[in-house]
Amino acid sequence: MSGVKAGSIPHLRRTGHGLRQVTPAPAERGAGICHDGRVKSRFEVRVRPARLADQEALIELEAIAWSAESGFPSTMAADQRNATFFDDRNPPEAFLVAELDGRVAGYIRLKPPTKLPENAHVIQVQGLAVHPDARRHGVASGLLAAAEETLRERGTRKLTLRVLGTNAAAIRLYERRGFVREGTLLEEFCIKGRFVDDVIMAKRL
Ligand SMILES: CC(C)(COP(=O)(O)OP(=O)(O)OC[C@H]1O[C@@H](n2cnc3c(N)ncnc32)[C@H](O)[C@@H]1OP(=O)(O)O)[C@@H](O)C(=O)NCCC(=O)NCCS
Repeated sequence: MSGVKAGSIPHLRRTGHGLRQVTPAPAERGAGICHDGRVKSRFEVRVRPARLADQEALIELEAIAWSAESGFPSTMAADQRNATFFDDRNPPEAFLVAELDGRVAGYIRLKPPTKLPENAHVIQVQGLAVHPDARRHGVASGLLAAAEETLRERGTRKLTLRVLGTNAAAIRLYERRGFVREGTLLEEFCIKGRFVDDVIMAKRL
């Protein structure tokens, strides 16, 4: 079953993020049950290339999307965060964004892991985040699906990523999308006094 119940949707307004509730079309009402018993999201996810105008929404999203289970506390403090979301090394072209009900609700950053031509068949997910109030509606799944499709068309052979061993939600998401574990960097980080593994995952496109 979807983790976000219809009753929690109005909280999207609370953050000032601007997401608003969708009233399902009459034909959609009562038709939201998947064959396996899960409740289908009533929200439409649309993925598109990022543009400069997304910057404000992405700065707001980035400020609240990460936790000590999913990211690095040293980079989360307000005075440690970049003033801009995009910069020379991270231009809009490196990102896809997802809109939920027409508002930016998540992003994925895709970059080559190295500049080596011998490594050019590989692309790495170097950032994926969804607004906390927009989660469990298929936003991250939509971003990954769109990224995979675009990369496959470009001839990319393999999509890789690194995920903290404490990030159960993201690991589940990647496994659901067919990523497999290729290795683990044991106790690679020390986060809040606890040693945390870094899990390497990949999917053949
Ligand atoms: C991980 C994250 C990107 C998932 O985004 P999302 O839009 O909520 O994911 P989806 O709705 O597409 O979920 C797809 C599936 O992933 C799994 N999943 C997602 N969130 C989960 C959670 N909190 N607990 C367990 N499984 C979860 C489920 O199998 C889910 O399918 P279901 O909702 O039908 O059960 C989001 O929680 C997030 O932004 N977290 C903070 C940043 C982060 O961890 N980024 C990844 C860094 S490697």
